[in-house]
Amino acid sequence: MDKFLIQGGRTLNGEVRISGAKNAALPLLAATILADSPIQITNVPNLKDVNTLVQLIAGLGVTISYKGDTVSADTSTLDNQFAPYELVKTMRASILVLGPLLARYGEAKVSLPGGCAIGSRPVDQHLKALEALGATISVENGYVHAHIDGRLKGGEVVFDMVTVGGTENILMAAALADGVTVIRNAAREPEITDLAQMLIKMGAKIEGLDTDTLTVTGVESLHGCEYAVVADRIETGSYLAAAAMTGGRVKTTHTDPTLLEAVLEKFEEMGAEVTRGDDWIELDMQGKRPKAVSFRTLPHPDFPTDMQAQIMAVNAIGRGFATISETIFENRFMHVPELSRMGANIQVEGNDAVVTGVEQLSAAPVMATDLRASFSLVLAALAAQGETLVDRIYHIDRGYENVEAKLQGLGAIIKRVSE
Ligand code: UD1
Repeated sequence: MDKFLIQGGRTLNGEVRISGAKNAALPLLAATILADSPIQITNVPNLKDVNTLVQLIAGLGVTISYKGDTVSADTSTLDNQFAPYELVKTMRASILVLGPLLARYGEAKVSLPGGCAIGSRPVDQHLKALEALGATISVENGYVHAHIDGRLKGGEVVFDMVTVGGTENILMAAALADGVTVIRNAAREPEITDLAQMLIKMGAKIEGLDTDTLTVTGVESLHGCEYAVVADRIETGSYLAAAAMTGGRVKTTHTDPTLLEAVLEKFEEMGAEVTRGDDWIELDMQGKRPKAVSFRTLPHPDFPTDMQAQIMAVNAIGRGFATISETIFENRFMHVPELSRMGANIQVEGNDAVVTGVEQLSAAPVMATDLRASFSLVLAALAAQGETLVDRIYHIDRGYENVEAKLQGLGAIIKRVSE
């Protein structure tokens, strides 16, 4: 199993090119199932999760290729609507093929998903929403069976909670439904807008982009197009956090400063100088120790849960103390015991954590527990005294493209070791 060996204590400086967003690429790939002519997606990050979904779509019989940063798909060869447990179990986002398969082919059998162990993460909202459009759904032996005679029928969908994947699944399904679908309490994450924009390019009729009410007027068919994946706002925030963590200065390029305002505000509160350009963001910590900052994770445009672990790591070496409330997932503090092993002072009570900054973390063997948590351990290692071994980095490979090369480019001493 691969591990990272990181020599702490270096100040990170330089430029890093941000990749396309994993969380946008996955729904865009699922949406290729809706296209009745060839479709091409560019700026696709080279990640394990992307490969898993490409394999899953290939398993449906779709002719799909993934070269460089481009995925090309042709659904004319699709010959089944089955997504097996072996592939779905490694990635929750696999459930995103359910809506498109059902909408276009009237049938789908998709395994219930696995993914990061950050909470129970059911898919009840996805299923309820598809039922509201007329689908018959049953769950047997770990599989969701979905069926509709003819086309899905437009209807009203009201989500009980803000769900990113649920909104995406129903948006794709509604695009091919008969009639108008109104999605209320929709998630407003930028990756949803990205999906809506590609669907519109494919011929879909969607109104209310960037709001919590999406109105979709179904069309009979959707065609292929060429589309570039939006920049990864979480990767952007993670590298800016590396500058904050090490007192350095990092410029993230090929990104979009409008997508992570809530995070940038927190960096400014830490005392960092943040400069925004059209497609770049630079964070300069000017050799200072950051001030610890309090926040609550909430749906977009508020503070993203996917940045919680990284900012907790920065707080761990911050001045003063901060409280962090995790309101999206019920089990997303698994990085805390690992950070504590490196000398962090963090008290957890339920979904709240109080972090009291310490002047210096120290190296220790640690274990990554989920995707974003793994980056928080890398951050801690970059600032710690000594050499840290981070185990189970397969989690990081799911979501960060070329992570060690990008960090090395900023001056980090990090190497991948296999045992
Ligand atoms: C997506 C992101 C993930 C991010 C999360 C929240 C992708 C591939 N992943 O995950 O990185 O952390 O949004 O921003 O885009 N829930 C239910 N029932 C459902 C659906 C969700 O109870 O049917 C709950 C979940 O357990 C969770 C909360 O709602 O507590 C939010 O989940 P959701 O927004 O659906 O997250 P994902 O789409 O899985």
